[in-house]
Amino acid sequence: MDKDLKLFELLSDGEFHSGEVIAKLFGVTRSRVWSLINSLEEKGVIVSRVRGKGYRYRGGSFLLDSNHIEQKLSPLALYYFPSITSTNDIAREYLKTSDQPLLVVAEHQTGGRGRRGRQWASCYAHNLLFTYGVPRFSAMQGLEGLSLLVGLTLVDVVNASLGVDAKVKWPNDVLINGAKLAGVLVEIQGDIGGDYSLIIGVGLNVNESPSVGDREVTSLMKNFGRAINRSELLVAFVDQLRRNINLFCLEGFSSFSGRWNEMDAYRGCQVQVEQGGEILVGLSRGVNANGVLDIEVEGELRSVHGGEVSLRAVYE
Ligand code: BTN
Repeated sequence: MDKDLKLFELLSDGEFHSGEVIAKLFGVTRSRVWSLINSLEEKGVIVSRVRGKGYRYRGGSFLLDSNHIEQKLSPLALYYFPSITSTNDIAREYLKTSDQPLLVVAEHQTGGRGRRGRQWASCYAHNLLFTYGVPRFSAMQGLEGLSLLVGLTLVDVVNASLGVDAKVKWPNDVLINGAKLAGVLVEIQGDIGGDYSLIIGVGLNVNESPSVGDREVTSLMKNFGRAINRSELLVAFVDQLRRNINLFCLEGFSSFSGRWNEMDAYRGCQVQVEQGGEILVGLSRGVNANGVLDIEVEGELRSVHGGEVSLRAVYE
């Protein structure tokens, strides 16, 4: 087992562990223990150090249970990593040779990517960072609605399992009370006109909300009141996502657009959309059967397509 994982697992009982005991247990020197603790801290885990007592972590989060996830989602191929660059990048590599859907999950990413060239930060072993990959994806429908569908699935699964009040924000954010809870990054590998694989990356703030610039962020734990079992949540989400993607392949986004509009955080609100340098300000009128957003500008409906677009509410 990776030493970071082993150390996090040991510390997650919330008790103090002396450097000497950890060194013995791991068969390493005390200075190696010190550098392992530093490495966890660099990944965002707050470890308290008390002279004479040792090290303690009081975060209340536990490692993902990869055996449980694998068993519940079988026959899906699961790739579990303590720390990697980006689950989307690894999934892209595996999809070149895979003919089955796969799931790449990490406790931490060193190069997590968001939309519009942003970074996606997350503390070690607190949140969900994963990519669901589908080789030779063959939906007849355009992909426009697909990232909307992923966001909607997240909203439905977290609301049903935890009783929180998550909403979607076009094109692919999930919010609670206006603060960002999750983001979706859908990419493809191959040629959109021919054979391609689908790469669906999801970052969900479960037990911690990382600070990202001046954006307001939140976590499920903040809204639910206590730490959440990430493995159960991941299983529930991927299971529902598989079913929704099957329906999407048969019927496109039209089966989901009504529900998406119901769960839209900004429906009927004054919004500002920036697309390729152009700024539109108007009332958000929801999405159509293809996932295209309608904005009412001076009495006329204007269509906004996904991609490199940003939308925010306008408060007067
Ligand atoms: C966004 O809101 O900008 C999308 C964020 C997507 C982040 C996830 S985390 C797992 C997967 N791997 C990445 O590098 N990005 C996505």
